Amino acid sequence: MSAARAINTNGIKVVPLSAHIGAEIHGVDLTRPLAAEHVAAIRAALLKWRVVFFREQFLTHEQHVAFSAQFGKPTLGHPVFGHVEGHREIYSISKFRKATRFEGQPLLRPWTGWHTDVTAAVNPPFASILRGVTIPPYGGDTQWTNLVVAYEKLSAPLRGFIDGLRGIHRFTAPVGASATDAFEQAVKERSLVSEHPLVRVHPETGERALYVSPSFLKSIVCLTPRESQALLDLLWEHVTRPEFTVRFKWEKGSVAFWDNRSTAHLAPSDIFDLEFDRQLYRTTLVGDIPLGPDGRASVAIEGSPVDAAAAVELN
Ligand code: SIN
Repeated sequence: MSAARAINTNGIKVVPLSAHIGAEIHGVDLTRPLAAEHVAAIRAALLKWRVVFFREQFLTHEQHVAFSAQFGKPTLGHPVFGHVEGHREIYSISKFRKATRFEGQPLLRPWTGWHTDVTAAVNPPFASILRGVTIPPYGGDTQWTNLVVAYEKLSAPLRGFIDGLRGIHRFTAPVGASATDAFEQAVKERSLVSEHPLVRVHPETGERALYVSPSFLKSIVCLTPRESQALLDLLWEHVTRPEFTVRFKWEKGSVAFWDNRSTAHLAPSDIFDLEFDRQLYRTTLVGDIPLGPDGRASVAIEGSPVDAAAAVELN
């Protein structure tokens, strides 16, 4: 690794992976409590690189939650699909995903798609932390895109037009996809729908991000259905341009930590063409209610804000 590419901060090394997004962090042991200056350095790298990666961190569920809690309040595993039994903050992301709230019924989704986590909630988690446990020998990479640089690369007139727009985010299967009964039941019982600005002001950096979570954003308010679809197609194609993205090859013990206020990511679908298993676990951290450039906050249409796991009564 070239020394010029690596940035040393408080004894840890941050190695950028692409022009606009993604850095690997070396020199920390995530199984133990971190020094305050290491928490600050990781947080600074997260704000700059949007997603940071660690290697060879063989965390237990408890260590995963303890690491996460140094950066915010862990939420329940997933507000709609539940959590790993006995670990209320952990969400299981496996190739054959099960709805833990429905006695292990399959949630198998033959679709995948670019998205930002849980944007159907009025306060989507500000960050997600995913760790790899069973990793296929090839295939199964995850990609992230930088929504701030995507916004900045739009023309000024288009930025001006979308700055005042708002979109409806809903937790449903994409048009044309068929969901399992467990998926439909979970989504019906815990319906989540919110209106968010199309451009979100990052609460820590003040940057504007193109807040268009492709899988959950269904329509743009005040536009005709045809205008809404045409504009969404343009913006979705734009945010996933390869030059705004980074692609991560998982290993057992890899951890990815990303900022949901400025990124979208793509879960792999190639794993369904391979016989190998894939098992990861995720925590998410309580987020605030997004604000647009005009200062207008997001609004919940259905469902409650996502709270800290510790504050949620389980039923
Ligand atoms: C996720 O969408 O949080 C999971 C990404 C992955 O499975 O790689």
